[in-house]
Amino acid sequence: MNAKKQAHQGTKKRIAVIPGDGIGKEVIPQAVSVIKATGAAVETADFDWGADRYLRDQTTVPPDGFTMLARDFDAILVGAFGDPRVKTNIHAKEILLGMRFKMDLYANVRPVRLLDGALCPLKGVEPKDVDFVVLRENTEGVYTDAGGVFKQGTPDEIATQEDINTRKGVERIIRCAFEYCHKQSKLNGSPRSKVLMCDKSNAMTHAGGLWQRVFKEVSAEYPKITAQHMYVDALCMQMVRDPRQFDVIVTNNMFGDIITDLAAGLQGGLGMAASGNIHPGRTSMFEPVHGSAPPIAGKNEANPFGAILTAAMMLRHLEFKKESDKIEAAVLEAVRHKKTTQDIGGVLGTKEAGEWIVRRVSE
Ligand code: NAD
Ligand code: IPM
Ligand code: MN
Repeated sequence: MNAKKQAHQGTKKRIAVIPGDGIGKEVIPQAVSVIKATGAAVETADFDWGADRYLRDQTTVPPDGFTMLARDFDAILVGAFGDPRVKTNIHAKEILLGMRFKMDLYANVRPVRLLDGALCPLKGVEPKDVDFVVLRENTEGVYTDAGGVFKQGTPDEIATQEDINTRKGVERIIRCAFEYCHKQSKLNGSPRSKVLMCDKSNAMTHAGGLWQRVFKEVSAEYPKITAQHMYVDALCMQMVRDPRQFDVIVTNNMFGDIITDLAAGLQGGLGMAASGNIHPGRTSMFEPVHGSAPPIAGKNEANPFGAILTAAMMLRHLEFKKESDKIEAAVLEAVRHKKTTQDIGGVLGTKEAGEWIVRRVSE
Protein backbone atom coordinates (compact mmCIF):
# COMPACT_ATOMS: atom_id res chain seq x y z
CA MET A 1 0.00 0.00 0.00
CA ASN A 2 1.38 3.47 -0.85
CA ALA A 3 2.08 6.10 1.80
CA LYS A 4 -0.91 8.28 0.81
CA LYS A 5 -3.40 5.41 1.15
CA GLN A 6 -1.79 4.26 4.39
CA ALA A 7 -2.06 7.76 5.87
CA HIS A 8 -5.68 8.01 4.76
CA GLN A 9 -6.50 4.92 6.73
CA GLY A 10 -5.32 6.88 9.74
CA THR A 11 -7.23 9.85 8.18
CA LYS A 12 -4.15 12.10 7.99
CA LYS A 13 -3.46 14.07 4.81
CA ARG A 14 0.12 13.96 3.56
CA ILE A 15 2.01 17.08 2.57
CA ALA A 16 5.35 17.12 0.75
CA VAL A 17 7.43 20.13 1.80
CA ILE A 18 10.07 21.52 -0.56
CA PRO A 19 11.55 24.76 0.86
CA GLY A 20 13.99 25.17 -2.08
CA ASP A 21 16.42 28.08 -2.06
CA GLY A 22 17.10 31.42 -0.42
CA ILE A 23 14.25 32.78 1.68
CA GLY A 24 12.22 29.67 0.82
CA LYS A 25 14.34 27.92 3.46
CA GLU A 26 13.33 30.54 6.04
CA VAL A 27 9.65 31.12 5.32
CA ILE A 28 8.57 27.52 4.71
CA PRO A 29 9.63 26.22 8.15
CA GLN A 30 7.48 29.00 9.64
CA ALA A 31 4.53 28.00 7.47
CA VAL A 32 4.96 24.36 8.52
CA SER A 33 5.05 25.32 12.23
CA VAL A 34 1.83 27.27 11.72
CA ILE A 35 0.16 24.30 10.01
CA LYS A 36 1.18 22.05 12.91
CA ALA A 37 -0.08 24.62 15.45
CA THR A 38 -3.58 24.46 13.93
CA GLY A 39 -3.75 20.78 14.88
CA ALA A 40 -4.87 19.86 11.35
CA ALA A 41 -4.67 16.12 10.78
CA VAL A 42 -1.69 16.20 8.44
CA GLU A 43 1.74 14.71 8.26
CA THR A 44 4.64 16.30 6.41
CA ALA A 45 7.75 14.96 4.69
CA ASP A 46 10.67 17.21 3.72
CA PHE A 47 12.52 17.14 0.42
CA ASP A 48 15.87 18.81 -0.23
CA TRP A 49 15.28 19.57 -3.91
CA GLY A 50 16.96 22.85 -4.77
CA ALA A 51 20.27 24.52 -5.52
CA ASP A 52 22.31 22.99 -2.65
CA ARG A 53 21.34 19.48 -3.71
CA TYR A 54 21.95 20.28 -7.37
CA LEU A 55 25.41 21.68 -6.64
CA ARG A 56 26.19 18.63 -4.51
CA ASP A 57 25.11 15.81 -6.81
CA GLN A 58 23.66 17.41 -10.00
CA THR A 59 20.17 16.15 -9.13
CA THR A 60 17.29 18.50 -9.85
CA VAL A 61 14.34 16.11 -9.63
CA PRO A 62 15.21 12.57 -8.47
CA PRO A 63 14.08 9.74 -10.82
CA ASP A 64 10.28 9.35 -10.73
CA GLY A 65 10.09 12.34 -8.37
CA PHE A 66 6.83 13.69 -9.79
CA THR A 67 5.22 10.25 -9.89
CA MET A 68 6.19 9.81 -6.24
CA LEU A 69 4.68 13.19 -5.28
CA ALA A 70 1.41 12.42 -7.05
CA ARG A 71 1.23 8.92 -5.59
CA ASP A 72 2.26 9.54 -1.99
CA PHE A 73 1.03 13.06 -1.21
CA ASP A 74 -2.22 15.01 -1.09
CA ALA A 75 -0.51 18.39 -1.57
CA ILE A 76 2.91 19.96 -1.99
CA LEU A 77 4.15 23.07 -0.17
CA VAL A 78 7.00 24.83 -1.97
CA GLY A 79 9.24 27.81 -1.10
CA ALA A 80 11.16 29.20 -4.05
CA PHE A 81 13.91 28.25 -6.47
CA GLY A 82 16.71 30.46 -7.75
CA ASP A 83 20.30 30.72 -6.58
CA PRO A 84 23.03 33.02 -7.85
CA ARG A 85 25.44 30.05 -7.91
CA VAL A 86 23.31 28.28 -10.54
CA LYS A 87 23.51 30.69 -13.44
CA THR A 88 21.47 28.55 -15.84
CA ASN A 89 18.60 28.31 -13.34
CA ILE A 90 18.20 24.76 -14.61
CA HIS A 91 17.12 23.38 -11.24
CA ALA A 92 14.32 25.95 -10.91
CA LYS A 93 13.13 25.14 -14.37
CA GLU A 94 13.17 21.38 -13.83
CA ILE A 95 11.67 21.42 -10.35
CA LEU A 96 9.16 24.29 -10.38
CA LEU A 97 8.12 24.36 -14.03
CA GLY A 98 8.54 20.56 -13.98
CA MET A 99 5.86 20.23 -11.29
CA ARG A 100 3.53 22.65 -13.07
CA PHE A 101 3.93 21.02 -16.49
CA LYS A 102 4.48 17.35 -15.76
CA MET A 103 1.85 17.14 -13.01
CA ASP A 104 -0.42 19.20 -15.31
CA LEU A 105 -1.24 21.79 -12.62
CA TYR A 106 -3.00 23.99 -15.12
CA ALA A 107 -4.63 26.58 -12.88
CA ASN A 108 -2.34 28.98 -11.07
CA VAL A 109 -4.71 30.62 -8.61
CA ARG A 110 -3.37 33.88 -7.17
CA PRO A 111 -5.73 35.68 -4.78
CA VAL A 112 -5.15 39.41 -4.40
CA ARG A 113 -6.43 40.65 -1.06
CA LEU A 114 -5.53 43.73 0.90
CA LEU A 115 -5.58 42.98 4.63
CA ASP A 116 -5.10 46.53 5.84
CA GLY A 117 -5.32 49.89 4.05
CA ALA A 118 -1.91 50.87 5.43
CA LEU A 119 -0.24 48.16 3.30
CA CYS A 120 -1.46 49.50 -0.04
CA PRO A 121 0.64 52.11 -1.84
CA LEU A 122 -2.53 53.64 -3.34
CA LYS A 123 -4.24 56.54 -1.58
CA GLY A 124 -7.56 56.00 0.19
CA VAL A 125 -7.84 52.31 -0.61
CA GLU A 126 -9.50 50.02 1.93
CA PRO A 127 -9.41 46.21 2.18
CA LYS A 128 -12.81 45.86 0.49
CA ASP A 129 -11.40 47.66 -2.57
CA VAL A 130 -8.75 45.03 -3.30
CA ASP A 131 -10.28 41.57 -3.33
CA PHE A 132 -9.84 39.84 -6.66
CA VAL A 133 -8.17 36.71 -7.99
CA VAL A 134 -5.96 36.05 -10.98
CA LEU A 135 -6.27 32.68 -12.69
CA ARG A 136 -3.10 32.19 -14.65
CA GLU A 137 -2.79 29.48 -17.30
CA ASN A 138 0.10 27.39 -15.96
CA THR A 139 1.11 24.76 -18.53
CA GLU A 140 1.70 26.49 -21.85
CA GLY A 141 2.26 29.93 -23.42
CA VAL A 142 5.85 31.11 -23.76
CA TYR A 143 6.89 28.89 -20.86
CA THR A 144 7.01 25.65 -22.86
CA ASP A 145 10.57 26.30 -24.01
CA ALA A 146 9.61 25.77 -27.63
CA GLY A 147 11.94 27.70 -29.91
CA GLY A 148 15.65 27.87 -30.34
CA VAL A 149 18.77 29.79 -31.18
CA PHE A 150 20.33 29.79 -34.62
CA LYS A 151 23.80 31.07 -35.54
CA GLN A 152 24.54 31.68 -31.88
CA GLY A 153 27.39 34.07 -31.17
CA THR A 154 27.43 35.51 -34.68
CA PRO A 155 26.11 38.89 -35.80
CA ASP A 156 23.32 36.98 -37.57
CA GLU A 157 22.14 35.26 -34.39
CA ILE A 158 18.40 34.47 -34.23
CA ALA A 159 16.42 33.54 -31.13
CA THR A 160 12.81 32.38 -31.24
CA GLN A 161 10.46 31.73 -28.30
CA GLU A 162 7.19 30.17 -29.29
CA ASP A 163 3.90 31.06 -27.63
CA ILE A 164 1.98 27.78 -27.45
CA ASN A 165 -1.79 28.06 -26.95
CA THR A 166 -3.96 24.97 -27.29
CA ARG A 167 -7.74 25.01 -27.42
CA LYS A 168 -7.80 22.49 -24.59
CA GLY A 169 -5.42 24.58 -22.46
CA VAL A 170 -7.20 27.88 -23.09
CA GLU A 171 -10.64 26.41 -22.61
CA ARG A 172 -9.93 24.67 -19.31
CA ILE A 173 -8.44 27.75 -17.65
CA ILE A 174 -11.26 30.01 -18.88
CA ARG A 175 -13.83 27.50 -17.67
CA CYS A 176 -12.02 27.30 -14.36
CA ALA A 177 -12.33 31.10 -14.01
CA PHE A 178 -16.11 30.99 -14.53
CA GLU A 179 -16.44 28.08 -12.11
CA TYR A 180 -14.32 29.95 -9.56
CA CYS A 181 -16.50 33.04 -9.97
CA HIS A 182 -19.59 30.90 -9.55
CA LYS A 183 -18.40 29.11 -6.40
CA GLN A 184 -16.06 31.40 -4.46
CA SER A 185 -17.28 34.47 -2.68
CA LYS A 186 -15.42 37.61 -1.68
CA LEU A 187 -13.80 38.03 1.72
CA ASN A 188 -16.89 39.86 2.97
CA GLY A 189 -19.09 36.96 1.86
CA SER A 190 -20.71 38.70 -1.13
CA PRO A 191 -20.82 36.66 -4.34
CA ARG A 192 -18.43 37.22 -7.23
CA SER A 193 -20.01 38.28 -10.51
CA LYS A 194 -17.42 39.18 -13.18
CA VAL A 195 -14.76 37.37 -15.20
CA LEU A 196 -12.32 39.51 -17.13
CA MET A 197 -10.11 37.94 -19.79
CA CYS A 198 -6.85 39.75 -20.34
CA ASP A 199 -4.76 39.32 -23.49
CA LYS A 200 -2.85 41.23 -26.17
CA SER A 201 -5.00 40.15 -29.08
CA ASN A 202 -4.53 43.49 -30.85
CA ALA A 203 -0.87 42.60 -31.49
CA MET A 204 -0.67 38.84 -30.91
CA THR A 205 -3.50 38.01 -33.24
CA HIS A 206 -3.12 34.24 -33.60
CA ALA A 207 -2.95 33.35 -29.93
CA GLY A 208 -5.21 36.25 -28.95
CA GLY A 209 -7.77 35.19 -31.54
CA LEU A 210 -8.02 31.74 -29.97
CA TRP A 211 -8.41 33.22 -26.47
CA GLN A 212 -11.11 35.60 -27.79
CA ARG A 213 -13.10 32.85 -29.51
CA VAL A 214 -12.92 30.46 -26.57
CA PHE A 215 -13.80 33.18 -24.06
CA LYS A 216 -16.89 34.06 -26.08
CA GLU A 217 -17.98 30.42 -26.28
CA VAL A 218 -17.43 29.60 -22.61
CA SER A 219 -18.89 32.85 -21.28
CA ALA A 220 -22.13 32.11 -23.16
CA GLU A 221 -22.56 29.10 -20.86
CA TYR A 222 -22.56 31.40 -17.80
CA PRO A 223 -25.20 34.05 -18.58
CA LYS A 224 -25.36 35.25 -14.96
CA ILE A 225 -21.66 36.14 -14.91
CA THR A 226 -20.53 39.37 -16.57
CA ALA A 227 -17.80 38.69 -19.14
CA GLN A 228 -15.30 41.47 -19.74
CA HIS A 229 -12.08 41.96 -21.67
CA MET A 230 -9.03 44.19 -21.33
CA TYR A 231 -5.71 44.35 -23.10
CA VAL A 232 -2.90 43.60 -20.68
CA ASP A 233 -1.31 47.04 -20.95
CA ALA A 234 -4.58 48.79 -20.15
CA LEU A 235 -5.20 46.35 -17.32
CA CYS A 236 -1.89 47.29 -15.67
CA MET A 237 -2.92 50.92 -15.69
CA GLN A 238 -6.39 50.14 -14.33
CA MET A 239 -4.95 47.95 -11.58
CA VAL A 240 -3.20 50.93 -10.04
CA ARG A 241 -5.90 53.47 -10.96
CA ASP A 242 -8.88 51.56 -9.63
CA PRO A 243 -8.42 48.01 -8.34
CA ARG A 244 -12.05 48.01 -7.09
CA GLN A 245 -13.32 47.06 -10.53
CA PHE A 246 -11.68 43.59 -10.59
CA ASP A 247 -13.25 40.34 -9.51
CA VAL A 248 -11.86 37.32 -11.40
CA ILE A 249 -9.13 37.83 -14.02
CA VAL A 250 -8.10 35.03 -16.38
CA THR A 251 -5.02 35.25 -18.55
CA ASN A 252 -2.10 33.40 -20.10
CA ASN A 253 1.03 32.17 -18.38
CA MET A 254 3.31 35.15 -18.91
CA PHE A 255 0.77 37.96 -18.47
CA GLY A 256 -0.38 36.16 -15.32
CA ASP A 257 3.17 36.11 -14.00
CA ILE A 258 3.66 39.82 -14.60
CA ILE A 259 0.32 41.14 -13.38
CA THR A 260 0.51 39.10 -10.17
CA ASP A 261 3.74 40.80 -9.12
CA LEU A 262 2.00 44.13 -9.80
CA ALA A 263 -1.01 42.89 -7.83
CA ALA A 264 1.30 41.78 -5.00
CA GLY A 265 2.30 45.44 -4.78
CA LEU A 266 -1.32 46.34 -4.00
CA GLN A 267 -1.32 43.86 -1.08
CA GLY A 268 1.83 45.15 0.60
CA GLY A 269 4.47 43.58 -1.61
CA LEU A 270 5.71 40.17 -2.64
CA GLY A 271 5.96 39.08 0.98
CA MET A 272 2.15 39.01 1.25
CA ALA A 273 1.06 37.12 -1.88
CA ALA A 274 -0.07 33.47 -1.91
CA SER A 275 -0.71 31.04 -4.74
CA GLY A 276 -1.88 27.54 -5.61
CA ASN A 277 -1.00 25.48 -8.68
CA ILE A 278 -4.04 23.32 -9.09
CA HIS A 279 -5.44 20.48 -11.14
CA PRO A 280 -8.78 19.67 -9.55
CA GLY A 281 -8.76 16.16 -8.14
CA ARG A 282 -5.01 15.71 -8.38
CA THR A 283 -2.11 16.38 -6.01
CA SER A 284 -1.67 20.16 -6.27
CA MET A 285 1.20 22.46 -5.32
CA PHE A 286 1.11 25.62 -3.22
CA GLU A 287 3.81 28.32 -3.12
CA PRO A 288 4.12 31.98 -2.23
CA VAL A 289 4.29 34.29 -5.28
CA HIS A 290 7.73 35.61 -4.35
CA GLY A 291 11.05 34.06 -5.31
CA SER A 292 14.20 33.24 -3.37
CA ALA A 293 15.10 36.95 -2.86
CA PRO A 294 18.90 36.51 -2.74
CA PRO A 295 19.62 40.01 -1.32
CA ILE A 296 17.76 39.26 1.91
CA ALA A 297 18.27 35.48 2.11
CA GLY A 298 19.73 34.13 5.35
CA LYS A 299 19.15 37.40 7.23
CA ASN A 300 15.91 36.55 9.05
CA GLU A 301 14.31 39.52 7.22
CA ALA A 302 11.92 37.83 4.79
CA ASN A 303 8.21 38.21 5.39
CA PRO A 304 6.79 34.73 6.11
CA PHE A 305 3.14 35.78 5.68
CA GLY A 306 2.98 35.01 1.94
CA ALA A 307 4.11 31.46 2.74
CA ILE A 308 1.79 31.25 5.76
CA LEU A 309 -1.22 32.46 3.74
CA THR A 310 -0.22 29.91 1.10
CA ALA A 311 -0.34 27.23 3.80
CA ALA A 312 -3.85 28.45 4.69
CA MET A 313 -4.85 28.19 1.03
CA MET A 314 -3.48 24.65 0.90
CA LEU A 315 -5.34 23.62 4.06
CA ARG A 316 -8.57 25.03 2.62
CA HIS A 317 -7.95 23.01 -0.54
CA LEU A 318 -7.49 19.91 1.66
CA GLU A 319 -10.82 20.77 3.32
CA PHE A 320 -9.40 21.96 6.64
CA LYS A 321 -11.59 25.05 6.57
CA LYS A 322 -11.55 25.83 10.28
CA GLU A 323 -7.76 25.60 10.45
CA SER A 324 -7.39 27.75 7.35
CA ASP A 325 -9.74 30.41 8.74
CA LYS A 326 -7.74 30.46 11.96
CA ILE A 327 -4.47 31.13 10.15
CA GLU A 328 -5.98 33.90 8.02
CA ALA A 329 -7.48 35.54 11.11
CA ALA A 330 -4.11 35.41 12.90
CA VAL A 331 -2.29 36.99 9.96
CA LEU A 332 -4.92 39.72 9.79
CA GLU A 333 -4.47 40.41 13.47
CA ALA A 334 -0.66 40.47 13.15
CA VAL A 335 -0.92 42.99 10.32
CA ARG A 336 -3.30 45.19 12.31
CA HIS A 337 -1.02 45.10 15.38
CA LYS A 338 2.16 45.49 13.31
CA LYS A 339 3.54 42.15 14.52
CA THR A 340 5.28 41.89 11.18
CA THR A 341 8.58 42.03 9.34
CA GLN A 342 10.05 45.34 8.18
CA ASP A 343 8.78 45.24 4.59
CA ILE A 344 5.25 45.85 5.87
CA GLY A 345 6.11 48.21 8.69
CA GLY A 346 6.97 46.03 11.69
CA VAL A 347 10.23 45.29 13.46
CA LEU A 348 10.10 41.48 13.75
CA GLY A 349 12.34 38.97 12.05
CA THR A 350 11.06 36.09 9.90
CA LYS A 351 11.20 33.67 12.80
CA GLU A 352 9.61 36.03 15.32
CA ALA A 353 6.76 36.96 12.95
CA GLY A 354 6.15 33.26 12.29
CA GLU A 355 6.23 32.46 16.01
CA TRP A 356 3.67 35.21 16.70
CA ILE A 357 1.26 33.49 14.29
CA VAL A 358 2.03 30.08 15.82
CA ARG A 359 1.10 31.39 19.27
CA ARG A 360 -2.14 32.95 18.06
CA VAL A 361 -3.16 29.87 16.16
CA SER A 362 -2.40 27.54 19.09
CA GLU A 363 -4.56 29.52 21.54
P1 NAD B 1 11.93 37.80 -5.68
O1 NAD B 1 10.48 37.62 -5.52
O2 NAD B 1 12.78 36.71 -5.20
O3 NAD B 1 12.36 39.10 -4.90
C1 NAD B 1 12.35 40.44 -5.36
C2 NAD B 1 12.52 41.35 -4.17
O4 NAD B 1 11.27 41.43 -3.48
C3 NAD B 1 13.50 40.84 -3.12
O5 NAD B 1 14.81 41.22 -3.38
C4 NAD B 1 12.94 41.47 -1.85
O6 NAD B 1 13.37 42.80 -1.75
C5 NAD B 1 11.46 41.45 -2.09
N1 NAD B 1 10.84 40.26 -1.50
C6 NAD B 1 10.44 39.13 -2.11
N2 NAD B 1 9.91 38.28 -1.25
C7 NAD B 1 9.95 38.87 -0.05
C8 NAD B 1 9.54 38.49 1.26
N3 NAD B 1 8.97 37.31 1.52
N4 NAD B 1 9.77 39.36 2.27
C9 NAD B 1 10.31 40.56 2.06
N5 NAD B 1 10.72 40.97 0.84
C10 NAD B 1 10.54 40.14 -0.19
O7 NAD B 1 12.21 38.08 -7.23
P2 NAD B 1 13.58 38.19 -8.05
O8 NAD B 1 14.59 38.96 -7.29
O9 NAD B 1 13.18 38.63 -9.39
O10 NAD B 1 14.08 36.69 -8.18
C11 NAD B 1 15.06 36.08 -7.33
C12 NAD B 1 15.20 34.61 -7.72
O11 NAD B 1 13.99 33.92 -7.41
C13 NAD B 1 15.44 34.38 -9.20
O12 NAD B 1 16.29 33.27 -9.35
C14 NAD B 1 14.06 34.04 -9.75
O13 NAD B 1 14.08 33.29 -10.92
C15 NAD B 1 13.50 33.26 -8.58
N6 NAD B 1 12.04 33.24 -8.48
C16 NAD B 1 11.50 32.04 -8.10
C17 NAD B 1 10.14 31.95 -7.89
C18 NAD B 1 9.59 30.63 -7.47
O14 NAD B 1 10.33 29.69 -7.24
N7 NAD B 1 8.29 30.49 -7.32
C19 NAD B 1 9.33 33.08 -8.04
C20 NAD B 1 9.92 34.28 -8.42
C21 NAD B 1 11.28 34.35 -8.64
C1 IPM C 1 6.47 32.76 -10.43
C2 IPM C 1 7.91 32.85 -10.90
C3 IPM C 1 8.22 31.81 -11.96
C4 IPM C 1 7.30 32.09 -13.15
C5 IPM C 1 9.69 31.76 -12.42
C6 IPM C 1 10.61 31.47 -11.27
C7 IPM C 1 9.93 30.79 -13.53
O1 IPM C 1 8.19 34.14 -11.33
O2 IPM C 1 6.08 31.69 -9.95
O3 IPM C 1 5.75 33.75 -10.51
O4 IPM C 1 7.62 32.91 -14.02
O5 IPM C 1 6.25 31.48 -13.20
MN1 MN D 1 6.59 35.55 -10.95
